[in-house]
Amino acid sequence: MRIDIITVLPELLESPFNHSIVQRAKDKKLVEIHLHNLRDYGLNKYNQVDDYQFGGGSGMVLMIEPIFNIIEKLKSERQYDDIIYTSPDGEKFEQKTANFLSSKENIIILCGHYKGIDHRIREHIITREISIGDYVLTGGELAAAIITDGIVRLIPGVLSDETSALSDSFQDNLLAPPVYTRPQEFNGWKVPEVLLSGHDKKIEEWREEQSIKRTEVLRPELI
Ligand code: ADE
Repeated sequence: MRIDIITVLPELLESPFNHSIVQRAKDKKLVEIHLHNLRDYGLNKYNQVDDYQFGGGSGMVLMIEPIFNIIEKLKSERQYDDIIYTSPDGEKFEQKTANFLSSKENIIILCGHYKGIDHRIREHIITREISIGDYVLTGGELAAAIITDGIVRLIPGVLSDETSALSDSFQDNLLAPPVYTRPQEFNGWKVPEVLLSGHDKKIEEWREEQSIKRTEVLRPELI
């Protein structure tokens, strides 16, 4: 899979993709993540990418031409399954969105910034708008990082034990069961007996039961 991220702040996105599972996925050539600085496509000698909004009002708006030009260039090089715009008014990013996008070949993520982007981009070029939650961030970069991370870990072969993605919270609309490691007892706090029993079927039943219980208590709307 290839993910192209267009941003005016590429520096903000360098670190999140250079560690741990995402870095390993890149090393294994399971994903390519390309950061593009929108300013490289800016207009005039100032590399201008934003301008005042028509009709007046505070805040700068990302202009149509730099975004159009970079997306046209990328599209001339390969076909894209989705061109995503990160925005608080997009569809909510959920596990099912991550599952869906992880099966794609090539996607573009355009990070919103300032007051927004010229609406014609959203009408004519963007194929999907995604929000990571009902709150407003200063820009779409952190949202792009979260979306990318959520997708990449689901690409087949990225997690060493593929079943560990299947047992994630939300994969079956249930929260994950609790997990424990050594020591068996700390401060008088004990690991549930069943997990030490070596009885696979009982452990599986216990985990399922815990998942249901936790979901009922913590996120009843998921049931
Ligand atoms: N940009 C600003 N806030 C955002 C949000 N909640 N989700 C996605 N992109 C954003």
